[in-house]
Amino acid sequence: MNILILGSGGREHSLAWAIKQNPKCDRLIVAPGNAGLADLAECANLDICDGDAVTAFATDHAIDLVVIGPEAPLAAGVADTLRAGGILTFGPSQAAAQLEASKAFTKDICTAAGAPTAAYAHFAELNAALDYTRAQGAPIVIKADGLAAGKGVTVAMTLPEAEAALTDLFSDSNAEVVIEEFMDGEEASFFILSDGTTLLPVGTAQDHKRVGNGDTGPNTGGMGAYSPAPVMTDAVTQKAMDEIIAPTMAEMAKRGTPFEGVLFAGFMIKDGQPRLVEYNVRFGDPECQCLMMRLGGQVLDLLQACAEHRLADQQVAWADDHALTVVYAANGYPGDYAKGSQIRGLDTLPEDSRNMTFHAGTAQRDGSVVATGGRVLAVTARAETLQAARDSAYASINQIDWPGGFYRTDIGWRALSD
Ligand code: AMP
Ligand code: GLY
Repeated sequence: MNILILGSGGREHSLAWAIKQNPKCDRLIVAPGNAGLADLAECANLDICDGDAVTAFATDHAIDLVVIGPEAPLAAGVADTLRAGGILTFGPSQAAAQLEASKAFTKDICTAAGAPTAAYAHFAELNAALDYTRAQGAPIVIKADGLAAGKGVTVAMTLPEAEAALTDLFSDSNAEVVIEEFMDGEEASFFILSDGTTLLPVGTAQDHKRVGNGDTGPNTGGMGAYSPAPVMTDAVTQKAMDEIIAPTMAEMAKRGTPFEGVLFAGFMIKDGQPRLVEYNVRFGDPECQCLMMRLGGQVLDLLQACAEHRLADQQVAWADDHALTVVYAANGYPGDYAKGSQIRGLDTLPEDSRNMTFHAGTAQRDGSVVATGGRVLAVTARAETLQAARDSAYASINQIDWPGGFYRTDIGWRALSD
C-alpha cells in the first residue's frame, strides 16, 4: 500500500513509525514532515489544509490510504474532499469534526445523547455572561468558543478571575463563550476508533498539560503522557462506552453525520463516574506516541479497516505493557522561544520497539538536527511496568545534549505515587 500521512508533529512521527512496521506498507509519504520523519518516510511539501491540493497529490502518487493527523485539515473539510475524489481516508468529515471545533455543538450533542458532562450555558454577549457567572459563583470554567476558541480555557477558582476572563474574551466583539460547571476529579483520555457504526477502543492515556514539575505553571499542548491510564479501570471504561461514547456516536449517525476516525475523549473521573470534559477528533499529541509504541504495526490494519467500514471484524492485539513519553521543549515554551539551536546526541539513542525519540519540531540544517518548534522531541519508551518505561525514557533523554531545551522530570508521578 502507498500511504500518505498529513502532519508534521510527534504524533505523525509515531503514526509513521507504527505504520512502517506493517509489511503491507510499501511507500510512505508524510506531508510536510520533519527531520525525524525524513529518516523513515518521504517528506512532501504540501498545503495540508487545501483539500484539492491534497487530493491531486494523492491521485498523482497512487495513494491507497490517507491518514489525517492534526485537527486543522479535518476542520477544513479535507477528508470530505478526499472521499469525494475516491481516495480512502482515515479522519472524520468536516461536519463530524465539529465535535472538536465547537464546544457548543458538543454540549448540544451530549444533551441529546444524555451523556454526563458539566452543566453549561452559551453566551455571545458580556453582560449576560457576567450575570450568569455571578449567579453560579466560583469555581467555574470559562471557555472560548467558535472563532475565538484558540484563546482557550480558564478554570477560575474565584469570581474575579472568571470576570476577568470574560472581559478579556469579549474584548473581541465576535466572541462566543461556554460557561461550565467546575468538575472535580482525575482526568484521563480514551481513544476509540469509529467507522460510523462499530466502535473499537485503542487505548487510554493521561497527559501532563502544565509546563512545570508538579503540574504547575501555564498550560501547554502536553509535556508528557503515559498509557494506560490507571484511573480508566475496566468498570470506568465500560461506563464511559455505555453512557458517553456509544450514545454520542449514535446521535452523530442519527443526525446524518456519522463519525469516522479516532475519537479522543477527555474525562473527569470521580468516585468511578466518568464525565465528559471534551472531545477531540484526532489522536492526542503526545498521547499518540504512547499508543503507537504499544500498538505497533497493527495500527495500519486498524486504520485501514476503520476507513473501509470494516471495524466489526477487527480486534486489537493487546500486550500487558506500559508506555511513557517525555516532551523535550524549547526554552521559553509555551511563551516565546528561539529557533535554530542544535540538538546533539540523538544518534546515540536506542531506536527499537521499546525506545523511540519522536520528532515534533525539528529540521536538518548542514548535517545537524536543529529545533524549529516549541515542542521539539517526544522521548518514548515501552516496558512491562510504568516505572520501567519511565526509567527508560529518562535514561534516553539524559543522553540528549540540547542546551536550548528543557523537560519535566516528573512525568507519570501521579500514577507512580498512588
Ligand atoms: P478543554 O480545552 O475543554 O479540554 O479544557 C482544558 C482543560 O481545562 C481540561 O483538560 C481540564 O483540565 C480543564 N477543564 C475544562 N473543563 C473543565 C471543567 N468543567 N471542570 C474542571 N476542569 C475543566
Ligand atoms: N495532548 C492534548 C492534545 O493533543 O490535545
